[in-house]
Amino acid sequence: MPSPIVCLFLLLGIACAQFVPGTDTGNGHQDGCSVTPGDDLGPYYVPNTPVSRTMCFGTAEDDYMFVKGTVYDVHCHPVHGANVEVWQADKTGLYFDDRCRVQFTADQQGAFSFVTTMPGKYKLGYYYRPAHIHYRVTAHGYREVVTQQYFSHDPSLGVNDPCGECNSGSAELILDVRAPTADDLLQIAQLVSFPVNKVVEFNPVMSH
Ligand SMILES: [Fe+2]
Repeated sequence: MPSPIVCLFLLLGIACAQFVPGTDTGNGHQDGCSVTPGDDLGPYYVPNTPVSRTMCFGTAEDDYMFVKGTVYDVHCHPVHGANVEVWQADKTGLYFDDRCRVQFTADQQGAFSFVTTMPGKYKLGYYYRPAHIHYRVTAHGYREVVTQQYFSHDPSLGVNDPCGECNSGSAELILDVRAPTADDLLQIAQLVSFPVNKVVEFNPVMSH
């Protein structure tokens, strides 16, 4: 489904194709998927983190979230075997040792998923950064994607983000949180045994 922005460009006769990771699977977008916008690596990246599809666990009352997606190339073909590194602040906004950092490999269909908690917000100077999850996606023969994924309706996004070099105003990186479907619940049950009430979909797109 083209976005309203795409439709406006089409009406004006300007060739334009836009893919919005997280709001569309990309399947059927033969005109090409746009490379995911990059974002600041930040000071908390650590290489060689544990291989796991769960992270940031605290208590049963925490605000857990299922993150799922597919890694695509610019032709909207899945990038199987891509390595995905994720890291984030914990619910209090702190980056603690290895508790909130993992890596995993996308499957043969480029798909990945993991369970984490809703990241807490932390201050830069006087102002809060928007809640976010950091990503570094790598695959043989592709340029790495280093970015951050944000959440819609966060008042700290964009011009309100105190991180001047960050990209929290980029629509492709701002995702809606939804309730899990029956299929999501089956996938979640393979990872954890406690309730997860939030789902976010993020589809990174890589170029050669
Ligand atoms: Fe961060």
